Amino acid sequence: MSDTLAIRGGTPMVPRDLHVRWPIITAEDKAAVTAVLDAGVLSGPFAVQVRSLEEEWARYCGVRYALATNSGTAALHTAVAAGKIGTGDQVITTAFTFLATALAVLQQNAVPIFADIDPRTYNIDPARIEERITGRTRAIIPVHIHGLPADMDPILAIAKKHGLLVIEDAAQAHGSTYKGKRVGSMGDVGCFSFQSSKNLPAGEGGILLTDRDDLRERAHRFREFGEDIRESDRKAFDPTRPLDGAREYNSLMMGWMYRTTELTAALCRSQLRRLDASLQQTRRNAAFLTDHLAKVPGIVPPYVPPGCTSGYYQYRIRLDPAAAGSNLPPRDFRQKILAALTAEGVEVSLWQTVPVPGQSLFQERSGYGLACPWKCPLGEEVKYDLAEYPETRKLLLDSLVIGSHSFPLFPQPLALMEKYVEAVQRVFANLDQALA
Ligand SMILES: Cc1ncc(COP(=O)(O)O)c(C=O)c1O
Repeated sequence: MSDTLAIRGGTPMVPRDLHVRWPIITAEDKAAVTAVLDAGVLSGPFAVQVRSLEEEWARYCGVRYALATNSGTAALHTAVAAGKIGTGDQVITTAFTFLATALAVLQQNAVPIFADIDPRTYNIDPARIEERITGRTRAIIPVHIHGLPADMDPILAIAKKHGLLVIEDAAQAHGSTYKGKRVGSMGDVGCFSFQSSKNLPAGEGGILLTDRDDLRERAHRFREFGEDIRESDRKAFDPTRPLDGAREYNSLMMGWMYRTTELTAALCRSQLRRLDASLQQTRRNAAFLTDHLAKVPGIVPPYVPPGCTSGYYQYRIRLDPAAAGSNLPPRDFRQKILAALTAEGVEVSLWQTVPVPGQSLFQERSGYGLACPWKCPLGEEVKYDLAEYPETRKLLLDSLVIGSHSFPLFPQPLALMEKYVEAVQRVFANLDQALA
């Protein structure tokens, strides 16, 4: 294949109008939201849409309890607080995640400790966890990054050995499975996000799952001002008077206001009915790309270990300049390929540019007055040295994501994937033009 690349003035390979924008809002979604407006109940601690969402999500994941929150970050913070993690405690998580995973730890005045990733799965490397455990470690937060389950068996074994809580950050991984179990159901708590880019999009929102009565009770209080929420209050709930009831107005512990609304819950329930179909379509698209891109020298498609299914929240490929016949440094090579594919009409993006501990908040440790919790007298001073995360750094230099938040793989037709493959083949067959 030898012709003029779009970046050199040729005709782009991918027609723009083949793309389907995310999220998709159907007539059923609109009817579900309109029904809430018609009923006139917009919120309330036991209001019917939120309660139904909690029941349906708990059932879908095979867990006893769910508590809906107004974001995934709120769900994570609630989980950390429910686990009684506080000032100076340490929590181990991955260096390759979204900031919110670590913020939820900081919000409890605790200290995030980052571990490097496995270069094939991009998830936390279990072998890097144990060496980071100290006398102050209280929990591990594995993140199922890009929709691929973290390697939970060794993580759960390490947690058991050291008496640590496991909080799964499944914000990107609704419906993904690890050895037949849904993510979010294996740790002590599982947390999800319903933000618009996710494969269960409801605007903003989140939910946490747990099988443990003690964690559920503390999470429930923490979500609502630290107030006592009793089963009798739930039973006494009158849907015609959703904001009135037997509330005592007595706060038992530090709390936040992390409840969500009936509109969000109704939209989320409606979207949930399509989640499995959407996952199927995403996996078909990903399988097609992987089949074809694996044959292009210089491209390493995402790896899914046996026994796992991924939701491909992001379809991230790695680029190997040497295998493609180039001696450019990885970042320069990636930037050239990114530009050439963009010109061809392929939706490509980066998502995260440095390991989370490389962000200014951690480098300057500027989160709190007096620099607590990092310099608290309670523990040793923690500093974040980027040399400790070589695999995360490499990944962020040599990889790119096919798709974006507005145009992820989930809703795309196979015809678009065919065009994407043709565009990639064209760019790699004319590398001299792309790299010039
Ligand atoms: C891995 C991860 N954790 C946590 C969150 C936070 O969720 P939210 O944006 O709903 O607060 C997100 C993302 O958006 C995420 O990608």
